[in-house]
Amino acid sequence: GKVAVLLGGRSAERDVSLKSGAAVLKALQEQGIDAHAFDPSEQPLQNLIDDGFERVFIALHGRGGEDGVMQGALEWLGLPYTGSRVLGSALAMDKIRSKQIWQTLELPTADYRIISEPLSLQCAEQVLAQLDGKVMVKPACEGSSIGMAKAEKPQELADAIAEALKFDDKILVERWIQGQEYTVTILNGRALPAIRMQTPHEFYDYSAKYQSKSTEYFCPCGLPAEEEQALKKHALHAFEALNGAGWGRVDAMKDDEGHWYLLEANTVPGMTEKSLVPMSAKAEGIEFPQLVVQILAAATV
Ligand code: DAL
Ligand code: MG
Repeated sequence: GKVAVLLGGRSAERDVSLKSGAAVLKALQEQGIDAHAFDPSEQPLQNLIDDGFERVFIALHGRGGEDGVMQGALEWLGLPYTGSRVLGSALAMDKIRSKQIWQTLELPTADYRIISEPLSLQCAEQVLAQLDGKVMVKPACEGSSIGMAKAEKPQELADAIAEALKFDDKILVERWIQGQEYTVTILNGRALPAIRMQTPHEFYDYSAKYQSKSTEYFCPCGLPAEEEQALKKHALHAFEALNGAGWGRVDAMKDDEGHWYLLEANTVPGMTEKSLVPMSAKAEGIEFPQLVVQILAAATV
């Protein structure tokens, strides 16, 4: 039957989604699947029913597409869709809720504070002192590092909070982790080979993710086999703890002392040429078209 690839949308990650969606669409069409692009910011969802679509591949990133809103609408329409259900999508979109769940399960995640209003310099100084002097500021519900900044001076923290508040009303201020960044793809109940990302930027920011030629990716990731196994096991556990389903990606860091920290889970990870999920699938022997077909095959309602 007809498949709609949802792409675009209205979130801050619209451009990334247009690329992910285009790659997914092309792969499905090359497999002989009757797939069509559908941008929900341009037409009502009811058209999915009226135009005879039978399944939906969600390639929307960020709010409205990855956070349970679209998932709920598709449930209502009775259309099978890819990836996590409403609850898993909503929890994973929110980095603070994700961390709170992981903490209750004693899964490792960096210490943090939650901020919901502009900070005075005095408060900023206190927050910095509580978190060992250096922090990462993140809007709770964004993606692709949008609105994120490092801060180590009270003024920097206050400015970073003010900037992050443009994207969300809940801000996560996380103790800075000095170390290496890794990611693990989850595909239908399995964890695929981990990737290590290395950037000359201060952190793996938007331009390091999508524009920079200087970002390096290592897969195999270089960890000893048992350590990679443990990382994959934790990533799968972390994903399932948030009610993640189908496919996704869990990001983590290892600090220079060897401690692991979970950063966040993504329930609709990027699928652009530069993206990580296609890279780890390939390392497992799953080419991009096959990957897309396997994700679609697990679509349910
Ligand atoms: N939020 C981006 C798309 C990712 O996690 O890949
Ligand atoms: Mg994310």
